[in-house]
Amino acid sequence: MRESSLVVVANRLPIDDSVAPDGACEWRRTPGGLVSALHPLLRHTPATWVGWAGGTGPAPDLPDVDGVRMRSVPLTGDDLRDHYEGFANATLWPIYHDAVEQPEHHRRWWDAYQRVNQRFAEATAQVAEAGAVVWVQDYHLQLVPGLLRDLRPDLRIGFFLHVPFPPPELFMQLPRRAELLRGMLGADLVGFQRAQAAHNFAQLVTKVLGLPATDRRIAVDDDRIVRIGAFPVSIDSAEMSALAARADVVERARRLRHDLGGPDQVILSVDRMDYTKGIEQRLKAYSELLEGGHVKVRDTVLVQVAVPSRERVGQYQILRDRVEREVGRINGEFGRVGEPAIHYLTQPFDRAELAALYRVADVMAVTPLRDGMNLVAKEYVAARVDDDGALLLSEFAGAAAELPQAYLVNPHDLEGLKQGLLAALRAEPADVRARMRAMREQLREHDIHAWARSYLSALDQGGSLLTRLG
Ligand code: UDP
Ligand code: G6P
Repeated sequence: MRESSLVVVANRLPIDDSVAPDGACEWRRTPGGLVSALHPLLRHTPATWVGWAGGTGPAPDLPDVDGVRMRSVPLTGDDLRDHYEGFANATLWPIYHDAVEQPEHHRRWWDAYQRVNQRFAEATAQVAEAGAVVWVQDYHLQLVPGLLRDLRPDLRIGFFLHVPFPPPELFMQLPRRAELLRGMLGADLVGFQRAQAAHNFAQLVTKVLGLPATDRRIAVDDDRIVRIGAFPVSIDSAEMSALAARADVVERARRLRHDLGGPDQVILSVDRMDYTKGIEQRLKAYSELLEGGHVKVRDTVLVQVAVPSRERVGQYQILRDRVEREVGRINGEFGRVGEPAIHYLTQPFDRAELAALYRVADVMAVTPLRDGMNLVAKEYVAARVDDDGALLLSEFAGAAAELPQAYLVNPHDLEGLKQGLLAALRAEPADVRARMRAMREQLREHDIHAWARSYLSALDQGGSLLTRLG
C-alpha cells in the first residue's frame, strides 16, 4: 500500500458505480455537499481518500479519481443500518439540527458507531505516511480523531464538522456525550461552520469533561492544546461561474424557460429530501400565496427538485410521502392542463443541468429550518454571471452569515415566508442586481480554495503541506 501525505477521511468516497452503455461497471465522481467541497483541493497533492464506496459487499478495488487514491472501508448490512442510518442519521442528525424531528437512542446503534469509527481509524493509519496530515470529515466519524491518535500519535489530525453543532441543552441529551466530545478532542484542530458552533463545543467540553476552554483553545492536558474555530465551507465559485456562462448551458436555460411555458417568473428550490430543508413549510407558503391570489399559475411556476435521500430511515420515508401528497394536492387544486403549479422532480441533476436551472430561476428559494452551510445557495450566486436573480435565504442556513444581502426569512414563520417570497418576486431589478453583485463579490473571495487554505494552514502550522498545495 502506497502511503500519502494528505489523507481525507469521510463517510462516503466521492465516487459511485454506474453501468456504462457497454454493460461494464464504471466509477464516476458523485455530487453532494461534502464531495463538491473537497474535490478541487485534492487535485493538488498526492492524497488518499478513505471512505465507504456504498453497498454492503467486500471493499471493491477502485481506480484513482483525478489522481486521488481511493481506499474503501467495507460496511456490512448491520453497520449500514446501525451506524449510517441509525446513530449518524437518526440520532446525531436530528439532534444537530435543532431536533426538528425526534432523535432516537439505541445502544446497538452506539456499538455500531464505535465499531465503524474504529475501522475507519485503522484504514487511515495504514495509508498515512509518517507525519502526514489527516483531515476527518463530519458527524459520522466523530470518534476517529481520538482512535487515530491512539494508533498513530505522529499524525497531524484535523476534524471538520459540516453540520451545525448544537447548543448544550440539546447535545446533553446524548447518552454517550462524553465519548463523542473526547473523540473530537483527538484532533489538533476542530473546525466548525459558524463561530456559534465553536462556542457551543467549548461550553460543552467544560461542562461535560471539566476542561478549561475558550472559543479558540481547549487545554486537554498539560502538554496538549486543541484549537477550535469557524471555517465556513464554500464552493468552487469560478468553476460554477464558468459552467453557467457556457453557451450550451445558456441555450439549455433558454430551452428550460420555454418548456416551463415561458412564465414571467420562475421560482426554484433544490434540496435533498430532508426534513431539515423546510420543503413542507415552503410548499405551504406557496399554496397559501396561490390560494390568496397573490401568485398566479399562468405567470409564475415553482420548480422543486427534491432528491431522495437516506430512504431507509423512517422519518425520510414519511417526509417523502407527505411532500408528494402535498405537491399532488397543490397541483390538483391550482394547476391547469399543461400548467402545473409545481414542477416536482426527484431525479438528481448533473452540474450543467443545475447551472442551467439556476440561470432560469428568477427567485431561488433556499429555506432550510437548519443547515450547516447550504452550498446550493452559494452555487446559485456563482451561477448568476448576469448579476440577476433574487436569493431567498433562511436565517437558519450557515450561508446567511456570509450572504446578508440575500432576502432573509425565518422559515418557521409562515407569514414571514410568504412575505419574503413576494418581496423577492416583486423586488426592483436594481435592488436585485445590487444584492447579487455584493454576494458574488463575497463568494469570489471566499471560495473553496480559500476555505481549504485557511483550514489547512491553521492545521499544518509550520508544516510543508501548503507549500506543496501551491
Ligand atoms: N446537487 C446535485 N444534483 C442535484 C441536487 C443537488 O449535484 O440534483 C448538489 C448541489 O449542487 C450541492 C449539493 O448537492 O453541491 C448539496 O449540498 P448542500 O450543502 O446544499 O446540501 P446537503 O445535501 O449537503 O445537505
Ligand atoms: C450533508 C452531510 C454530508 C453528507 C451529505 C449527503 O451534507 O454533511 O456528510 O454526505 O449531507 O448525505 P448522505 O447521507 O447521502 O451522505
